[in-house]
Amino acid sequence: MLRSKRKPREQCENPSVLVLYGSPHKRGKTWQLYEAFSQAFPAGASVEVYSAYEERPEPCLDCGYCTRHEGCSQHDLDGFMRAFETCDIFVLVTPVYYNSFPAPLKAVIDRFQRYYSARFSRGIKPPIAKPRVAAILATCGSGDRDGLSEIKNQFKRAATVLNCTVAGAAFARGTDEAGVTEKALDGARKLGEKIFEDWRFE
Ligand SMILES: Cc1cc2nc3c(=O)[nH]c(=O)nc-3n(C[C@H](O)[C@H](O)[C@H](O)COP(=O)(O)O)c2cc1C
Repeated sequence: MLRSKRKPREQCENPSVLVLYGSPHKRGKTWQLYEAFSQAFPAGASVEVYSAYEERPEPCLDCGYCTRHEGCSQHDLDGFMRAFETCDIFVLVTPVYYNSFPAPLKAVIDRFQRYYSARFSRGIKPPIAKPRVAAILATCGSGDRDGLSEIKNQFKRAATVLNCTVAGAAFARGTDEAGVTEKALDGARKLGEKIFEDWRFE
């Protein structure tokens, strides 16, 4: 009989999930996609949602601080970055704005520069010790795929220095006319199930 080589994690381990939320609408279309994904969260999961529109992170100033020192010269994202470094699963949840991220969320992405500088200016490898898994959930008003693939590409590029593996993405296109379809919700649900099922194993 074939046996799986996968080793289940200890029962007591529950995943910590950090959600970076990029829509100005608390319960909009992008949130609907996230809710479908979140149905897969195990009962004991701890979930923290960082809403970029509520928190209004400062943009990166390219001041050069992180090329010489640990961290950032601005401290508004210290708590978020601590959570980002220690979470098990990171979920990027965003609408597409002009084929990219909404500005407050883009500010967070740019502030990941501290890790890029740690790696390439200060030689710290890896700049984040803990390997983590990421998922991307995104919506766009049109039927166009360009914005969604651009978001995925941009985050994947950032993730290479963040010790973060993008395990998958779920998208809802055409939300302006059709809203978030049952098919899109199902895709988000299935992605959540896959990610948490994989996470149950070392
Ligand atoms: C400023 C702005 C820019 C947008 N740019 C795009 C775009 O480039 N491509 C697209 O398909 N939809 C675009 N949209 C539509 C949103 O992506 C879409 O309505 C999204 O599902 C909204 O999600 P929400 O309800 O969570 O805010 C844009 C909307 C706004 C407000």
